[in-house]
Amino acid sequence: MKYDSAYSKAAEAATYLGRYLLRYKKVELGLILDAIGDGAAVLDYGCNDGWVSRQIKRRKPKCQVSGADINPSALETARRRQGGIDYFDARNGDLDGKTFDVVILSHVLEHVHARHDLLHRVSGLVATEGRLVICVPQERIRGDSTLIPWAMNVVRGRFVNPHVVVLRHEELVSLLHDVGFELDHSAYTNLIWPRVSQRRGLQSHSLIVQARRKTVPAPVAGQ
Ligand SMILES: C[S@@+](CC[C@H](N)C(=O)[O-])C[C@H]1O[C@@H](n2cnc3c(N)ncnc32)[C@H](O)[C@@H]1O
Repeated sequence: MKYDSAYSKAAEAATYLGRYLLRYKKVELGLILDAIGDGAAVLDYGCNDGWVSRQIKRRKPKCQVSGADINPSALETARRRQGGIDYFDARNGDLDGKTFDVVILSHVLEHVHARHDLLHRVSGLVATEGRLVICVPQERIRGDSTLIPWAMNVVRGRFVNPHVVVLRHEELVSLLHDVGFELDHSAYTNLIWPRVSQRRGLQSHSLIVQARRKTVPAPVAGQ
């Protein structure tokens, strides 16, 4: 998939529909905000035009919010809309050595073949006591929640589905486990009532999980 300005605009349009038509973007945002303490350092990894980053900064002004993406055009748009947020290019070493209290991967993992490598890299950006928040679509048919970017590709003669996988709960927990994280909390957002549930249904839009570093059991005295 080519993450260029056309993709960025298509993803932005999809987010717009998700905010105003079906409103699932606002339900997801509520769950993401629940994971963020006041004053936390937050990284929105795969931020596209920075809508999620800006909402976090608006709702939690004491937080130090940063965004990162591999698409230079998306970063240019995000920087233009700014709002007190630092943006980093995820392709170079800008983020090396930095850590954050909360790292968000919202609708990113399903785009990536090398998910294990990406999670490994991103987990290194989470502070010791920090949280990883991951949001992945729960599609019935892979790509059914990415119709605008998908249709745009067809128009351009590139029959590429932007989503390379549908990640279910078990697979996500196993990926997290592999990079040293354990599940703290999870919930599904739904397109109709109830907008948030613990069980996945046909109407589910996404799965949001919060994870923290696995706790190492303290050594038993005398051993
Ligand atoms: C569907 S958009 C999600 C935007 C935003 N996070 C949201 O929830 O609305 C997917 C974003 O992931 C970015 N992306 C894809 N692969 C990535 C990678 N390996 N590292 C960082 N960002 C990536 C794309 O450039 C795009 O901006």
